[in-house]
Amino acid sequence: MEKRRLGRTGLEVSALGFGGGPVGFLGTEQDRVAEILNYLLDNGVNFVDTAAGYPGSEEAIGNAVSHRRDEYVLVSKCGQAFDDLDGEAWSATVIEQTVDRALRRLKTDHLDVMLLHSCDQEVLEKGEAVEALVKARDAGKIRHAGYSGDNEAALYAAGLDAIDVIETSVNICDQANIDTLLPEAQRRDIGIIVKRPVANAAWLGVGEQPGFYANYTTTYAERFAAMGLSPGDLGFTGGPIDPWPMIALRFTLSQAGVTTAIVGTTNPNNAARNIEAAAQGPLPGDAIDAIRAAFASAESVSGTQWAGQR
Ligand SMILES: NC(=O)c1ccc[n+]([C@@H]2O[C@H](COP(=O)([O-])OP(=O)(O)OC[C@H]3O[C@@H](n4cnc5c(N)ncnc54)[C@H](OP(=O)(O)O)[C@@H]3O)[C@@H](O)[C@H]2O)c1
Repeated sequence: MEKRRLGRTGLEVSALGFGGGPVGFLGTEQDRVAEILNYLLDNGVNFVDTAAGYPGSEEAIGNAVSHRRDEYVLVSKCGQAFDDLDGEAWSATVIEQTVDRALRRLKTDHLDVMLLHSCDQEVLEKGEAVEALVKARDAGKIRHAGYSGDNEAALYAAGLDAIDVIETSVNICDQANIDTLLPEAQRRDIGIIVKRPVANAAWLGVGEQPGFYANYTTTYAERFAAMGLSPGDLGFTGGPIDPWPMIALRFTLSQAGVTTAIVGTTNPNNAARNIEAAAQGPLPGDAIDAIRAAFASAESVSGTQWAGQR
């Protein structure tokens, strides 16, 4: 598994990471989470992303692999208010408690990165939330502070000295951050974690998506249909396995400035396929150009700006 440097954190992380959203939102059984995570760790993946806001995800990851804690870089997210915590969203109080709770749930004494979970730019400008992460860093509870978000707010975050890492959307159906955030992140040596890296499986019909994904993926499904691409257009012939997951992951990993792509999966077979896809390296330049052109053209025809999606 290819390793890449997570910007100025200096951490060496696998190009493919694990996204802990779906196992939380879909309530994946503990044994299955353990099977997926241990398989990924056994096969060179060393990057695990979760959030306080993914129900049960921090606990499931802690139960599954905390005994192997020195084998992975661990990221969680905070900032929202929770019924069992004091304080308002984005307050220092709630962030401090969320960090402490994450350490307990993930059964560890430190997080490698804690991200502010998609707050608006005004929250970043106010400073209290970022300061709370700096305080947690100074106390040794987290190693680095970061921001999860897109568009203007992510660009603003990239200019903050305290922010070493940004998690943002980059995929075949979400290309806005490629020309704006990624060059700035490279200039400032900020590590880039890509969320939604396979576009929430936008090639599936919305009706084929499980649970919360039906609503969650609608925008990408509409964009994907409007882009009108087939694997054949990109030089890939059909086979027993749908090539779209491989194409989508390799497109994301091909973008300059991307460090790691945290694919969310509840399926051990897909975890194995994603390792194989990542091993194939960048997509051919012609295929990348065709995906970029299809996005630009469909966005233009739509008459709206296709912004990065939370
Ligand atoms: N605001 C934020 O901070 C934010 C927002 C969104 C996401 N995230 C983070 O980013 C991670 C990734 O985003 P995501 O999970 O929303 O989207 P994603 O990784 O782009 O897509 C996940 C979907 O793709 C499917 N999939 C994965 N590998 C596949 C394969 N090889 N073949 C077919 N289908 C495959 C999964 O289904 P199966 O379960 O069946 O494999 C799941 O439905 C999240 O888990 C979370 O950690 C953060």
